[in-house]
Amino acid sequence: MRFDVITLFPELFGSFTQAGVIRRAFDSGQVELRLWNPRDYAEGNYRRVDDRPFGGGPGMVMMAEPLLRCLEAIRAERADAAGAEAPLVLFSPIGTPLRHTAVADWAAGQGAILLCGRYEGIDQRFVDRYVTQQISLGDFVLSGGEIAALALIDAVARLQPGVLNDEGSHQADSFNPALDGLLDCPHYTRPEVWAGERVPAELLSGHHAQIERWRREQSLALTAQRRPDLLAKARADGRLSRADEAYLRHLERPVAPD
Ligand SMILES: C[S@@+](CC[C@H](N)C(=O)[O-])C[C@H]1O[C@@H](n2cnc3c(N)ncnc32)[C@H](O)[C@@H]1O
Repeated sequence: MRFDVITLFPELFGSFTQAGVIRRAFDSGQVELRLWNPRDYAEGNYRRVDDRPFGGGPGMVMMAEPLLRCLEAIRAERADAAGAEAPLVLFSPIGTPLRHTAVADWAAGQGAILLCGRYEGIDQRFVDRYVTQQISLGDFVLSGGEIAALALIDAVARLQPGVLNDEGSHQADSFNPALDGLLDCPHYTRPEVWAGERVPAELLSGHHAQIERWRREQSLALTAQRRPDLLAKARADGRLSRADEAYLRHLERPVAPD
């Protein structure tokens, strides 16, 4: 798959493709990353890409014309490579919050053109005419869409076959359908005792079924505590076993006073 990123700060993507496990996705060509700077498509000596907002107010707005020329250059280059028209994704606080299900869809797709906003945002006429969807990283405001683009590409790259050291490890990650959409359990490593605290005995038992049950119960307890919405969904989708339900009932029982 191929991601073409439109950004005024391509340098922010510098070492990204060469760090950690996801470099395999780029080295193998499973994920291709191309960077495009709208400034290269702006006119005049100053190659201006932004201007003051109509109606006044603080900040600047990214102009439509350099973005359109940049988009046309990308589409011309992708035409032979990708065939079908790639979607144009704008990162924005007003977009749909990014979730695992969408990441999994992107991971199985052909890629996209990703537009990183800056300043107060982008001339709405360009957004209305060319943007096919908007994605948010959450209910907070970043200085630009680059971190959101990096987040999406990273999440997609780690789902590519052969990228993680242990092929099935992403299936045990939070939100994964293989984990019934629950949160991941806590993890521990050596030493067995650290700062006076022992690793939970179940993990040292060597008993596979007992370890699996402990992990499942930890996931259930964490999800019930932190993300009851995810637990309700797993229940509604019929993903909880009788043993899961029994454990959750046990969790809800009031503790008897001493
Ligand atoms: C300073 S922000 C603009 C915020 C905009 N005026 C607003 O209040 O919604 C500049 C750019 O950062 C990106 N951005 C900011 N917050 C984001 C978020 N939560 N998710 C995705 N992109 C975000 C967008 O591309 C946005 O155009």
